Amino acid sequence: MKRFLSLLLAGLMVLSLSACGKEAPAPAPEPEVSVSEPATEEVPASVEETEEPEAEEEMPEPPVLSLKDIYAEHNMKVGTCLSRTMIEKEQYSEIVLSQFNSFTMENAMKPEATLKQQASKDNGEVTVEFNADAIKMLDFAKENNFAVRGHTLVWYSQTPDWFFRENFDNSGELVSREVMLERMESYIKQIFEQLSTLGYADMFYAFDVVNEAWMENGSLRQCRWTETIGDDYIWWAFYYADKYAPEHINLFYNDYNEQYKHVSLPKYVSELVDEDGRSLIDGIGLQAHLYTQDSLSTYFTSIERLASTGLILEITELDVCLGAYQKALPATEENLRAQGKYYYNLISGLMERNEKGLINMDSITFWGFNDSLSWRSNQSPLLYNSQCEPKYSYYGAALAKEFAGF
Ligand code: GLA
Repeated sequence: MKRFLSLLLAGLMVLSLSACGKEAPAPAPEPEVSVSEPATEEVPASVEETEEPEAEEEMPEPPVLSLKDIYAEHNMKVGTCLSRTMIEKEQYSEIVLSQFNSFTMENAMKPEATLKQQASKDNGEVTVEFNADAIKMLDFAKENNFAVRGHTLVWYSQTPDWFFRENFDNSGELVSREVMLERMESYIKQIFEQLSTLGYADMFYAFDVVNEAWMENGSLRQCRWTETIGDDYIWWAFYYADKYAPEHINLFYNDYNEQYKHVSLPKYVSELVDEDGRSLIDGIGLQAHLYTQDSLSTYFTSIERLASTGLILEITELDVCLGAYQKALPATEENLRAQGKYYYNLISGLMERNEKGLINMDSITFWGFNDSLSWRSNQSPLLYNSQCEPKYSYYGAALAKEFAGF
């Protein structure tokens, strides 16, 4: 029967691959040292064609596992990004509830969701309000005992342009540094005040104060924040977050391509101190949007260097695409096995380094769980396939080596 199911599965994979027009893969290129484009602007490489995958070999029935129990043994929380669909569709919510104990809202707490243009115009000052999706997810967290990562306050992307303009008007002039600093303070203050007033603040353990500000070449990304406030806007964001966030919430700088930023980031975060030399930042968020051909030894060396800042590290948006940034690979049996092994080696390597005290990591968050809901859905980056069946990558992430494709 199992043999039959394996053949059926292989047959279905062939069908779905041919539906996508994929054929034989060219030999995998060496992992490139050059850096990728920003995660948010990524254009996936086209998928190469492949041979028919071989039928899956028989293996013992995989055990029922729970990531949250496994990670708790290593003193780590494990999270997913969350959207309303993921808690409203039972097929998804079952996975969220059984596997995770932490989440980050995928979009509902980004500036474009919390900043209200009309209300800001009417009130003559910046006005923040959580939308129905955010409230729904915060209630879900409360009912089900989830810890929450706040994401994100100050970012160049998904932030409305009117926020930086006179009278909160789309066609207004950009405001002065002084006005923008006032707006930034008020915005950050309102976020934390409302979370407290609404009774949600206690669930938050970490907050991304600034997202994706520094480039791989060590320069500052130019954006509306630099145009209005200037290059010290990051310091001010942390200053205000430190001033208004409840004490128990750790404040993070979050970024992608972290493996290429280990020289510049330690220098920048060491400058985020107040007048008395006290650090305004608690941690560095490692987005970990990776590829199965990205070098893990480069990754581990870089994050050990980031850990030397003394800051907490959190994996914040983990997903691992098949192949390389320059060359995506199709979802063949072989490539999915490689992904399972990669997840196993990555997660076990992180746990090991944490246990040895080489890094101080308290949570790992995946950027979703089901391939079809992912922002990189055509590259099969997550733990479950579109039918919510666990992949080799799930078993790799669960540290169940014998089922992880080895
Ligand atoms: C970045 C952001 C995330 C998300 C991803 C793409 O990594 O931090 O919030 O938008 O891009 O989905």
